[in-house]
Amino acid sequence: MTNPEGAGAPEPSAGASATPALSKESPSGGRAVLSKEPAGSGDVVPDGEPLLRVSGLTKHFPVTKGIFKRQVAAVKAVDGLDFDVRAGETLGVVGESGCGKSTMGRLITRLLDSSSGTIEFGGQDITHLGTAGMRPLRRDIQMIFQDPYSSLNPRHPVGAIVGAPFKLQNVEPEGGVKKEVQRLLEVVGLNPEHYNRYPHEFSGGQRQRIGIARALALKPKLVVADEPVSALDVSIQAQVVNLLDDLQQEMGLTYVIIAHDLSVIRHVSDRIAVMYLGKIVELTDRQSLYDRPLHPYTRALLSAVPVPDPRGKAKRGSERILLQGDVPSPIKPPSGCRFHTRCWKATRICKAQEPPLVSLRTGHQVACHHPENFEDQQPDDTELLSEVEKANEQAALDKTAVAQRDREAVGKE
Ligand SMILES: Nc1ncnc2c1ncn2[C@@H]1O[C@H](COP(=O)(O)OP(=O)(O)O)[C@@H](O)[C@H]1O
Ligand code: SF4
Ligand SMILES: [Mg+2]
Repeated sequence: MTNPEGAGAPEPSAGASATPALSKESPSGGRAVLSKEPAGSGDVVPDGEPLLRVSGLTKHFPVTKGIFKRQVAAVKAVDGLDFDVRAGETLGVVGESGCGKSTMGRLITRLLDSSSGTIEFGGQDITHLGTAGMRPLRRDIQMIFQDPYSSLNPRHPVGAIVGAPFKLQNVEPEGGVKKEVQRLLEVVGLNPEHYNRYPHEFSGGQRQRIGIARALALKPKLVVADEPVSALDVSIQAQVVNLLDDLQQEMGLTYVIIAHDLSVIRHVSDRIAVMYLGKIVELTDRQSLYDRPLHPYTRALLSAVPVPDPRGKAKRGSERILLQGDVPSPIKPPSGCRFHTRCWKATRICKAQEPPLVSLRTGHQVACHHPENFEDQQPDDTELLSEVEKANEQAALDKTAVAQRDREAVGKE
């Protein structure tokens, strides 16, 4: 397939389908294959063990006012996250725009300081490490950014961009930087002869491949990819996700892949965390999430994902749930369950008490008083908030009507 977007090397073919066919079993196609070499500082933890452990993680951005910059409020972008990422797995993180996914990504890669909580990497507490303390870990933890247009310096040729991590970390790869960069370009499916070209000479998909090559240069262990394909054409998305998947298998990488909907990460994630307004509301393996979601918000997200297989659609239920309104402001999140202002199942307790994130099934955590596909956790609380509101509105209308009638009666007298 020739690339309509740029003058660089053609995009490798994604196969016959024009729609994303994302799969864990995708072949590596014609590109060079990386050997599964140990990363920079040796293996940290065996496969399946937690490589990253996050507890009580928060990030509150202060909102200031006046010339003295007095803090008047805080944006609670991330508000108490507990999860781990196991070595060799892909954790997908999904949620609507503004729910704190990018902030979470920047916190766990230590590009941003947290307000509270702890982050452990390979058993080491890295929460408060300074620049010097983080330097050796920068080899192990890398980030791929959403926008392949702004994340590459337009004034630098691709060779310098992909080779920068070697300079920053003072690493001299075997055979020299140029040879290694050319090898990396080949590994991500680009022409190594395009070493001297500039970012603008490449298409969006190719630029994201450059970003991936740069992230992989130092053979990291953990790669956090923040919406790596959101800015790309839908036909290119599958190729880039499949490339990430192939590289994971070849290099033994651990991924956190962030996305705003489930379509991109549905096939490549081993486990999926669903975020809503700074919190994780559901966390489980991909199969359980698709087959038996527990959180109403997850159900709504799933109902929005197009299902190509009609049998799959029948299994999950074809009812489309349209979420009402936008995500509320993280400056003043709703009381109790933060989803209660948009949830069709919300009752009084949902407004009053925050549901804790608990394991209802093995390996399946959810924060909900009235979960889907599971026994009600608050069976006595049956009155829907929507019904209460309707009743209140009706009562107010009745009161106005009575007052009007009384006024009219007085007028007649
Ligand atoms: N540097 C910042 N200062 C103040 N607010 C921020 C900052 N970065 C992000 N936010 C706010 O934090 C919330 C979460 O943002 P973000 O993590 O980018 O969400 P997502 O990636 O899920 O779209 C948003 O309300 C956003 O406006
Ligand atoms: S706790 Fe209540 S409002 Fe929140 S998701 Fe569950 S049912 Fe809906
Ligand atoms: Mg984001």
